[in-house]
Amino acid sequence: MTESSHLAATADAYDAVAVRYAEFARDELAGLPLDRAVLAAFAELARTTGAGPVAELGCGPGRVTAHLRDLGLDVFGVDLSPVMIDLARQAHPDLRFEVGSMDSLDLADGELHGIVSWYSVIHIPPRELPAYFTEFRRVLAPGGHLLLAFFESEGGPVAAFDHAVATAYRWPIDDLAGLADEAGFVEVGRMLREPREQERFRRGHLLVRLG
Ligand SMILES: C[S@@+](CC[C@H](N)C(=O)[O-])C[C@H]1O[C@@H](n2cnc3c(N)ncnc32)[C@H](O)[C@@H]1O
Repeated sequence: MTESSHLAATADAYDAVAVRYAEFARDELAGLPLDRAVLAAFAELARTTGAGPVAELGCGPGRVTAHLRDLGLDVFGVDLSPVMIDLARQAHPDLRFEVGSMDSLDLADGELHGIVSWYSVIHIPPRELPAYFTEFRRVLAPGGHLLLAFFESEGGPVAAFDHAVATAYRWPIDDLAGLADEAGFVEVGRMLREPREQERFRRGHLLVRLG
């Protein structure tokens, strides 16, 4: 599959499930104190280390974007799926949401103060991920923070799995940290959360900043 057909397939797949996904995910963070703690740490660092907007890339229906707004950030969302963006705009009319791909952002160099990718880099074929880190570096100001949430591979290599919506990959957290390092990011911290009863995989959270 070429890169563009992979993006089109992901957008179509999320368009098709957007309404169900939005309903499923809407209140999920309320039951996830460790996830909220990571988002709170990101928000505190973003608020206290400089000024400028933060983007949630791969924002889906915007529930994490809205959570970051509630944590005091000037935040907007970008997603491949037009249906997701319509739902995000309806649910959060006070926030800005745009259709776009996070490997080719309509943003100036250094425009952002922070980036959150909450389960969105999971869909990127592993060989393409370095180019995404390059784009994240381009749009972040020096010192800007990047937070990634993903499915962790629990000792195995990076591998595709049967994600319910579109092909997705589980990553060893050390491998993602290595790619971030190669792209010029410095690790700030990481958090691993074991799956809850209804979840299949360990969850990884990696916080880095542009050196
Ligand atoms: C599992 S959902 C997560 C949505 C949201 N972050 C949340 O936690 O509710 C993954 C989202 O990433 C988006 N996505 C995948 N690849 C993308 C890309 N290259 N650029 C922008 N969005 C992308 C999908 O369209 C989908 O909405």
